[in-house]
Amino acid sequence: MASIKTADRDGVRIITLDHPPVNALSFALCAELLPVVETANADGAITAVVFTGANGLFSGGADINDFSTEPTPDTKTIRDVIAAVEKSDKIFVAAIDGNALGGGLELALACDYRLASSRSKLGLPEIKLGLLPGAGGTQRLPRLIGAQAALEFMLKGSTADAEKAAKLGILDEVVPGDVVDRAVTLAKAAPAKRRISARQAELGKGLVRMALPFVVSQAHKMVPPEENGGYAAHKLIDAVEAAVELPFARGLARETRLFEELARSAPSAALRHVFFAERELAKVPGIGDAQPLAVKKVGIVGGGTMGTGIAICFADAGIAATVIEPVDEQVERAKQMIFGMYMHQVQRGRLAQEEAWKRGQSIVFSDDYNDLADCDLVIEAVFENMDVKKQVFTKLDAIVKPGAILASNTSTLDIDAMAAVTKRPEKFLGLHFFAPANIMQLLEIVRGKDTSPQTLATAFAVGKALRKKAVLSANAFGFIGNRMIFDYAREAGALAEEGVPPYRIDSVMKKTFGFAMGPFAMFDLSGIDVSWHIQQSVPAMAAGRTKIVDRLYELKRLGQKTGKGYYKYDKSVGSGREPIRDEDVEALFAEEAKKAGIAQRGDEVTDDEIIKRLTYALINTGAMLLETGVALRPGDIDIVYVYGYGFPPHHGGPMWYADEVGTRHVYAAIKAFRDAFGPHWEPAPLLIEIAERDGKFANIKAKEQLVHA
Ligand code: 3HC
Ligand code: NAI
Repeated sequence: MASIKTADRDGVRIITLDHPPVNALSFALCAELLPVVETANADGAITAVVFTGANGLFSGGADINDFSTEPTPDTKTIRDVIAAVEKSDKIFVAAIDGNALGGGLELALACDYRLASSRSKLGLPEIKLGLLPGAGGTQRLPRLIGAQAALEFMLKGSTADAEKAAKLGILDEVVPGDVVDRAVTLAKAAPAKRRISARQAELGKGLVRMALPFVVSQAHKMVPPEENGGYAAHKLIDAVEAAVELPFARGLARETRLFEELARSAPSAALRHVFFAERELAKVPGIGDAQPLAVKKVGIVGGGTMGTGIAICFADAGIAATVIEPVDEQVERAKQMIFGMYMHQVQRGRLAQEEAWKRGQSIVFSDDYNDLADCDLVIEAVFENMDVKKQVFTKLDAIVKPGAILASNTSTLDIDAMAAVTKRPEKFLGLHFFAPANIMQLLEIVRGKDTSPQTLATAFAVGKALRKKAVLSANAFGFIGNRMIFDYAREAGALAEEGVPPYRIDSVMKKTFGFAMGPFAMFDLSGIDVSWHIQQSVPAMAAGRTKIVDRLYELKRLGQKTGKGYYKYDKSVGSGREPIRDEDVEALFAEEAKKAGIAQRGDEVTDDEIIKRLTYALINTGAMLLETGVALRPGDIDIVYVYGYGFPPHHGGPMWYADEVGTRHVYAAIKAFRDAFGPHWEPAPLLIEIAERDGKFANIKAKEQLVHA
């Protein structure tokens, strides 16, 4: 079936991109589209051409898979199609109904007019893939809306709705009715060509031309450094500078060169991996064609930190939530948190007052479990204690309607043990949100041994409704994310005991490697008491571990919440949450090291060793989770780390990073760590197997079945 459809109306040729799912302008599609445009150009009976798209959108842009394949001399790309438009003497109109992104929008920018329906969204999101708009976008957009506005639009990479795009000057009209009809009418009446490439006047808009070097140098300063997440941003700024400085054709050539460099770069490969890994998440063997249940009303048991955050997630998704919280003061605190959060959003202009009010009102508090009887899904978020949780589920099972799903937000407890107290283990699972639940994008879906495909399908549908990155995990201690973080924490603690100050470890992991936060700042944020409780409940986790957590716990240095943890916090300094180096903690580490006979070698530990010990601890445990089937795919682990723990997306997540470094190098280093530091560094068998053939995690197949250990 042809992916390009054409129809003629009154001398106007309508070219429809029909290449499901997103009309991606792949090499193959461009090879089909190019002769269609050339034929229209050569047809004397045609005065104008309208581009539009089927499948509910204009185009999702270039085919991202193509960037991993080498083009041949015969390959046709969006650039070739645009060149054919550019040299044509016909009028071209883009009739956009739905998303016009990346190369799709660049095709529209090459047209004389751009019209869109009000539901349309326009964007140049290439930066999110570590790329820049490479089909003329960096040269045409500055000529259309001014260099500064164009730079901001492309550096953000977010989409603008039709109304905003019209305000920015990207669209000529937002069309209330049928956009193709209006495009045909306009094309027939349009007096002349209006190619953006011919425009120079708009370029300086928002900039005094003389100020260009200043604007450019400021822009370079405002984006992350090249080697730490900003590689594409700097090249994008260079491309826009070229748009202002050079004639169109030379600017275009510069853009192409910069684009090609980025397409071959490691950060872009990593970001493209993250893009596809996200889209793999819900593809779970065994779910088959199970249809999700409708979830219209949700119950939440426990209105503490997590329960309240989870309730906000549902309110934001337009799903009513009833929260059972027996403690009156906690209900007040929860209401204040909800009210405060929505007020803040209204003040920031992110939400209309009316909508904020509606969302706030959709969360109802009660102390009567009977109010949950008609819920479709109930999520438990009470204290992390198995007996309390079992009591809650026994009660819920008796009250909540038989078809409803029950879920626990536990961080560490056994899902099957909870399911066992109910008569519906097939409708039982873990839904592990991350704090703050209404902000963190990650959701771990924990499959119990009896969880049915329909229950899983419902959980993924809920994840999608909440706009979370939902990752499946087997029911195993710590699931995916926390199981791995324990070993990361072990190494951070070990390094500190060897005499590397926590602030240095954090600085290396954040500023040099690119984590959103260093490990010790993260532990202070989540609470030292949380780490301590986990270590108490699972003694096996103590292997190779410093005693510092016990010391801090005894000293009630519980982290940010008590103003002291691995760092000091001073309310009068900045936001009050800035970690301040505390030499007392360094002394505690030194004392513990002395007791354990650990030699001080802080001065000889390089930044490289810090990065390796922390990231390779993640990789080794990740390999173990893959082998035992706790995680389905390496990409699932990567998504957990990028979205739940601030792992730098330009390194793609820990398992992608292992491939980037080379698995045999990772294996060699881990063997050396085992010899130097002990058996907790024993390499995972899957890592050995992959490394010995110099293979990649990215090439292993998804597990068919998740284990329930
Ligand atoms: N290339 C290849 N595949 C793509 C794609 C693209 N540009 N965009 C989407 N897909 C695939 C997805 O992988 C998914 O495949 P699957 O079903 O096999 O998993 C399928 O299309 C549907 O995608 P989504 O699940 O994301 O569907 P949604 O309806 O939720 O979202 C969308 C649609 C808003 C278009 C979203 O897919 C998206 O944001 N796509 C990427 C847009 C983008 O970044 N474009 C720029 C590309 S780079 C470029 O154009 C370079 C140019 O400057 C030269
Ligand atoms: P919290 O202590 O803030 O809240 C628990 C709430 O449950 C309290 O308000 C308490 O009054 C209420 N509660 C206790 N017993 C109850 C019962 N029988 N019926 C109704 N309500 C009851 O605890 P938090 O931090 O919200 O944690 C809740 C759960 O979420 C725990 O299982 C925890 O492990 C998990 N979790 C916590 C995360 C965190 O960072 N705080 C992250 C992810 C999961």
